[in-house]
Amino acid sequence: MADSSVYRRRRDIFLSHLGEYAAIIPAAELVTHHADCEYPFRQNSDFWYLTGFDEPNAVALFLPHKPKGEQYVLFVLPKESAAEVWTGFRWGTKGVLDNFDVDISHPLNELPNLLPHYLKGAEGIAFRVGKHPSLEPLVLKTWSEHLQKLPRSGFAPLSMIAPCPILHDLRLRKDVFEIERMRIASEISAEGHEIVRGFARPGMNERDLQAQIEKYFLEKGTRGPAYGSIVASGDNACVLHYTANNSDIRDGELVLIDAGCSLGDYYNGDITRTFPANGKFSVEQKALYEITLKAQEAAIRCVRPGGNAENVHMTALKHLVEGLIDIGLLVGEVDSIIEQEAYSHLYMHRTGHWLGLDVHDVGAYRLGDYHMKLEPGMVLTVEPGIYISDRLAVPEGQPEIDERWKGIGIRIEDDVLVTKDSVEVLSSSAAKNVIDLEN
Ligand code: GLY
Ligand code: MN
Ligand code: MN
Repeated sequence: MADSSVYRRRRDIFLSHLGEYAAIIPAAELVTHHADCEYPFRQNSDFWYLTGFDEPNAVALFLPHKPKGEQYVLFVLPKESAAEVWTGFRWGTKGVLDNFDVDISHPLNELPNLLPHYLKGAEGIAFRVGKHPSLEPLVLKTWSEHLQKLPRSGFAPLSMIAPCPILHDLRLRKDVFEIERMRIASEISAEGHEIVRGFARPGMNERDLQAQIEKYFLEKGTRGPAYGSIVASGDNACVLHYTANNSDIRDGELVLIDAGCSLGDYYNGDITRTFPANGKFSVEQKALYEITLKAQEAAIRCVRPGGNAENVHMTALKHLVEGLIDIGLLVGEVDSIIEQEAYSHLYMHRTGHWLGLDVHDVGAYRLGDYHMKLEPGMVLTVEPGIYISDRLAVPEGQPEIDERWKGIGIRIEDDVLVTKDSVEVLSSSAAKNVIDLEN
């Protein structure tokens, strides 16, 4: 876990980018699961990135227009024995002052009274509208009141900006501390994949494998799965967001597992492996697997400083299409198949995404026509796949698919760090070569 200097450094950089804008960054709130039961708490990653504070409902203010020592203000739920008996420990106002390096703390219920004061003197407000429904009315009311008084006060925040471009640009580039956390998250996730593959047998249920990998994540002291684990045997693997995980695994089927852990400080792994349940690929499975692996390896070779995620995707896509032409599942020229998207019944998603505090992490992929250049410290997944089922119609001009190919879904996903010279595959200890997956 980080010491407080990690968060202080991030806040200093964030403050330096705000100009004279006052930023309002709320914590997450508890989310109802059903009736009066709530999901386990999950902090808002932007809030976490700046504060390292893991309680719900808090609100952080970043006030570059105030003197040093008054620029970081945290409103938190107050200590309250009766509430803590039900929902657990709270740091309270004194606790955050002593332990979280805040300049000023207040109980949350004072926010309506104090927000006008803290916004006074700011040139504008940095707040993400549309995302924080319980706080937004107060922010807009406070801003409106400042504007109302402008003729006599002579000063009011005049505009509102979204803080995300600043914050997400920072989060996109991981520093040394974050890279080490990402290594650990990916490594534990990869170990979980290795263990579950050794455990899997035909006749087990998908949820037996889910239990096994998630047990490992918990044993390693993580928060557990970073997202709903996908354990999909046979045709279920063709459902991209399959999370039912309740089918029996049959002899001769492949098993696709897309699972990663989330560390205590929310850094995530996101790995997919696909392997034969009985330890032996069929001819068709092997052909498709080798195409996918070749595409993935070629795409990973494109990850380097100066490259871009679009090129990584296009490289994977080109290899997939070439391979599918070779085995007769597509017909035509590679370029025109890609241009007409005549492959999209077999490969229907992009090849990756940024990875960090969020699994689908923040950060722009493009600015207008410009594709963000990869830089050292960026982490992305590379995850091509092939999914053969009857769910999508075969595009005009493409061949109908023989039954022997159907019910095969394959994805291979690694977590990849851009380094100074090239790339580090953070998830490399999860085996993916055919020889290692067969026994
Ligand atoms: N597990 C979600 C994804 O691979 O994007
Ligand atoms: Mn992914
Ligand atoms: Mn995944």
